[in-house]
Amino acid sequence: MESVTLPAPRHIDPFAVPSLRWGVIGTGWIAGYFVDALREHTGQRVSVVAARDAERTEAFAAAHGIERVLTPPEAVFDLADIDVVYIATPHASHRDLALRAIATGKHVLVEKPFAMTAAEAAEIAAASRAAGVLAMEAMWTRYLPQSDVLRQLIAEGELGDITQVVADFGSAASYDPASRLWDPAQGGGALLDIGVYPISFASSILGTPERVQASGLMTPDGIDLRATALLTSAGGAADAVVSTSLLAKTPASAMVVGTLSRVDVLPAFFAPSGLRLTRGEQSEEWIDDRFSQRYDALGYQATALASFVAEGRLESPLHPLDEVTAVLGTVERIRHQLTVTDVAF
Ligand SMILES: NC(=O)c1ccc[n+]([C@@H]2O[C@H](COP(=O)([O-])OP(=O)(O)OC[C@H]3O[C@@H](n4cnc5c(N)ncnc54)[C@H](OP(=O)(O)O)[C@@H]3O)[C@@H](O)[C@H]2O)c1
Repeated sequence: MESVTLPAPRHIDPFAVPSLRWGVIGTGWIAGYFVDALREHTGQRVSVVAARDAERTEAFAAAHGIERVLTPPEAVFDLADIDVVYIATPHASHRDLALRAIATGKHVLVEKPFAMTAAEAAEIAAASRAAGVLAMEAMWTRYLPQSDVLRQLIAEGELGDITQVVADFGSAASYDPASRLWDPAQGGGALLDIGVYPISFASSILGTPERVQASGLMTPDGIDLRATALLTSAGGAADAVVSTSLLAKTPASAMVVGTLSRVDVLPAFFAPSGLRLTRGEQSEEWIDDRFSQRYDALGYQATALASFVAEGRLESPLHPLDEVTAVLGTVERIRHQLTVTDVAF
């Protein structure tokens, strides 16, 4: 039998794209990893960091080598020498901050989830298109080398007709009423925080599902605790099974099955990992071992964004805003089907 071969990932040279001037809003843990990845692995420049708490923002700037510090976050929008704003604050603040940034002519990279609802996402998309600036969700998985390999395999027909996608991301989050994860006002719950990864993965392969059948649990105040959904594509051509949880850790694996071959994205599929292509008894595996610290790979999305800006694009061709919006629509359809339960923590 013919042996199976994986294509090499295609990289954008991080120093062949414009060096944009970034304003960072938020000083939480993902902002720290993002800034470090930009400094160490891209040609992008972090010009300023802004958040509400002046002391914490100063400390963040000192720890991550940023010269300029501003409070409140909105002060970034008045700066003329910023090209793009990275929004790394809790979900519920994404819409307002993104709209403010766009209104002052700045491109935006918005942490996942892009917004709290599909309606909010559509509002940001409409505003960015009208203003002629680029808006992109920081769904970093899309910009990883393994995602490029997977796209090439699918484009070349290596998988045959795709019939099935499976992806999970669950974590065991201890109950903490002070955490945004457990606060309904801040978009708490598994779906918006980590469930968007498997749903977005399924969407990247199968598109927006025609049918969404879900099961899971939600607290009376609207915190989704776990959800499993069967997402069926147009005409029933293929199904995806996606799951998420705040109650239990799952492997974070992903699989795409076709009539000719199968691809397993190695755990954790949302971060740089690698993949295995299997056809019959043959298989080939590629491990992404470029970074020992997974969040160093956050730089790929920033380099991609700069390349899209250079091309005059207003959205990512790898992750269009209509798709970002549709994924949040799928989240809403899943949430509506969950069983409300009074869980004691
Ligand atoms: N891509 C990834 O792998 C990844 C990983 C983790 C998180 N995320 C996403 O990143 C976002 C932030 O998560 P995180 O865990 O980094 O959060 P975090 O550690 O709680 O940090 C949030 C930051 O936002 C600021 N902030 C809080 N509420 C705000 C508000 N209402 N308006 C403006 N600023 C506010 C806080 O500083 P001040 O209080 O000083 O303003 C803080 O610096 C979330 O949407 C999350 O889904 C992505």
